[in-house]
Amino acid sequence: MDGNGRWASKRGLPRSAGHRAGAEAVRRTLRAAVEEGVEVLTLYAFSSENWRRSEEEVSDLKGLLLYYVERELDTIASEGVKLRLIGDPAAFGPNLATKLETAVERTKDNDNLTLVVALNYGSRAELVEVARRLAEKAAKGELRAEQIDERLIDEEMHTAGLPPLDLLIRTSGEVRLSNFLLWQAAYSELLFVETLWPDFDGSDFRQALAEFARRQRRFGGR
Ligand code: FPP
Repeated sequence: MDGNGRWASKRGLPRSAGHRAGAEAVRRTLRAAVEEGVEVLTLYAFSSENWRRSEEEVSDLKGLLLYYVERELDTIASEGVKLRLIGDPAAFGPNLATKLETAVERTKDNDNLTLVVALNYGSRAELVEVARRLAEKAAKGELRAEQIDERLIDEEMHTAGLPPLDLLIRTSGEVRLSNFLLWQAAYSELLFVETLWPDFDGSDFRQALAEFARRQRRFGGR
């Protein structure tokens, strides 16, 4: 969800206004995804690198997330959306982390769309964590090195149990993965669009799905 800052500065507004407009885009995109029967929608809301932003901006983003869970939880729950988190939301402090966990718990039996929110997430940190966990199991004699395969690694990732990542969309014209789902994106279709995130809407999302439907996926075959 890139481009909130640029959207705001083009309008002479503070960055926080861009993030607020970005939260509206989240609402629109989630609605479109539910309507289109998408199984899983993952949003990169806060990267482990985002702590480098000013204290004010980090605090604005935390406030916005809190506001969003508080205001949207009833809607999300009634639409049958299941919330799941990846990354390390505990770093946001007990207030926000507890609210998020409560939201996860409350929606855990929903089976419409799974909304995965990546919070304080970094793909390399996730891989390091997996490597450490497997090494510990090996050290305790619970695992032999030759038992480590792609399936086992999949099962240790934060995304364990989710279907393969089909389509990865980055907004705002940047053409990078920026430490997002590197392992999971091995065979994903990548789509880079010029639209700034706060301008992204249901029609952009539907266009992205149409583009995905036109791609020929070969998974390394012919
Ligand atoms: C990137 O734009 C966006 C973010 C770092 C924050 C994304 C968060 C939201 C949209 C808040 C709401 C999220 C949820 C799940 C309710 P940028 O600030 O890097 O933009 P720039 O590259 O133009 O500066």
